[in-house]
Amino acid sequence: MQKSIGREDAEVSDRFRVTEFDPGDALEGDGDDVITGLTEAQKWLPARYFYDDRGSALFEQITELPEYYLTRSEEAILAKSSGDIARRTGACELIELGSGSARKTRILLDAYAGLGHQVRYLPIDVSAGILKSSAGELLATFPALEIWGLIGTYGDALTGLPERTLPQRMVIFLGSTIGNLNNVEMAAFLAIVRGALAEGEYFLVGADLQKPIEIIEAAYNDAGGVTVLFNLNMLEHLNRRFDGDFDLAKFSHRAVYDRRYDRIEMHLVSSERQSVNLAKLDLVVEFAAGETILTEISRKFDLPSLRKRFAEAGFAAIETWTDPDQHFSLTLFRAE
Ligand SMILES: C[S@@+](CC[C@H](N)C(=O)[O-])C[C@H]1O[C@@H](n2cnc3c(N)ncnc32)[C@H](O)[C@@H]1O
Repeated sequence: MQKSIGREDAEVSDRFRVTEFDPGDALEGDGDDVITGLTEAQKWLPARYFYDDRGSALFEQITELPEYYLTRSEEAILAKSSGDIARRTGACELIELGSGSARKTRILLDAYAGLGHQVRYLPIDVSAGILKSSAGELLATFPALEIWGLIGTYGDALTGLPERTLPQRMVIFLGSTIGNLNNVEMAAFLAIVRGALAEGEYFLVGADLQKPIEIIEAAYNDAGGVTVLFNLNMLEHLNRRFDGDFDLAKFSHRAVYDRRYDRIEMHLVSSERQSVNLAKLDLVVEFAAGETILTEISRKFDLPSLRKRFAEAGFAAIETWTDPDQHFSLTLFRAE
């Protein structure tokens, strides 16, 4: 039986509403997934726990790093494709998954404004602080824009969307965040997105592509050490959220490419034998020296297999754009 989701609606201004889903009721379970992940043979944690306010700020710093080609490549692709996309959809509800700072979304919003197409923007993010601050900045830039922010997980927000007010919808998923999902998770996720769209509506997806491993590994092992702080911050977030006692000095960052699965894996490596207590979850976790927690997978795609997975979930690829180096892709899918 599906859980009923606790939610609270608030009108911040006449152009800005917010719905906050109660993390305690989340479909994905707040903390249930931590217990599952930390009690499996290869310990793992869901990537969403990277993102408290500090995690979101650190991610923004990562997007500016010289090694982190992903954001710059996707930005360049959006600059050349956004006019075509806006023309195709016309007036539209833009539902953005994991909107973060929405820096790249501005390029799309500019295109819609330039064509005079009405837009309602529905950002979805677990990180409340960055969702509210980016919404405030967008409202100041785009005087005709209406925003309804949804603070919660993709699953909760997509199954609890407000009534539609415009004839067309497009779900947007940028930053290759889709690459954080393994095949099983991706199939379940695509089914939820498909359920939120009517036939003929759109899904715009940024996906990182396969390329020489040195380029990929450098992006997740930056010389300035920001990714180290980002990775370790997940433990600080868990300490605060679940009354934990992870000692950050006893863990280190590791990011390596796994050719078998075409993905980079980020781990936190325990420097010694230790036990960690997460009091609110009633969980004690034992670590051997050198044992790791897998904190993120970031898959690198080839376009034919990406399109095939989406086709299996009921999405037809309409057009794909790439940057000149073929490092990154943006594909517009249509729900069939
Ligand atoms: C890799 S960042 C991408 C941010 C932005 N879209 C970009 O392209 O730069 C992922 C974003 O998704 C959010 N996020 C991660 N997992 C989530 C989940 N399960 N449900 C909702 N938001 C999530 C994070 O808070 C973060 O803002």
